Amino acid sequence: MKTLICYYSKTGITHKVAHAVREQLVRSGHDVTLLRVERQHEAGFFRSAWESRRKVLPQVIPASLDVGSYDLVIIGFPVWAGSLASPALSLVNALSNLQSKRVALLSTMKNPTGQKPAMQLCETLIRERGGVVVMSFEFTPGRQKRLAETAAEFCASII
Ligand SMILES: Cc1cc2nc3c(=O)[nH]c(=O)nc-3n(C[C@H](O)[C@H](O)[C@H](O)COP(=O)(O)O)c2cc1C
Repeated sequence: MKTLICYYSKTGITHKVAHAVREQLVRSGHDVTLLRVERQHEAGFFRSAWESRRKVLPQVIPASLDVGSYDLVIIGFPVWAGSLASPALSLVNALSNLQSKRVALLSTMKNPTGQKPAMQLCETLIRERGGVVVMSFEFTPGRQKRLAETAAEFCASII
């Protein structure tokens, strides 16, 4: 299965999770492309939180991403200010050819409680673009401590 893992990570946690997921998928014979989206202009904590709360779309690289050739798209993002991190919102916005595409979502956060709205926002945006959300998974700090095991659990539920 041709799989794209695209993600945004500011401090490296979602990056680590994305790599662990990739490792599991490659082990099961998947053809995996890993893409870390970067923001064009760096921003500090307060600006980042403000953008996320206001649903501001910062410029990211790449500015557009055609996912038409993939069987499965995995989107990874950190939770910021109880919402989708603003560069991840830009990432979702940058996706094209999502129609009928299987999409799995993974998020990371510091506080494991009350983060459902971030995931729900991402699910809604994907569905609005015609994507089919097959799995939403929160990599809570507890799950991050058992990363290989949790990544295997995530992958087993999407393939
Ligand atoms: C601007 C900003 C806002 C954040 N807001 C939240 C939040 O509302 N809830 C939470 O649990 N963690 C919050 N965090 C923590 C991150 O979600 C968490 O550390 C995440 O795993 C970081 O992922 P990354 O290392 O891939 O960037 C915030 C971090 C930043 C930088």
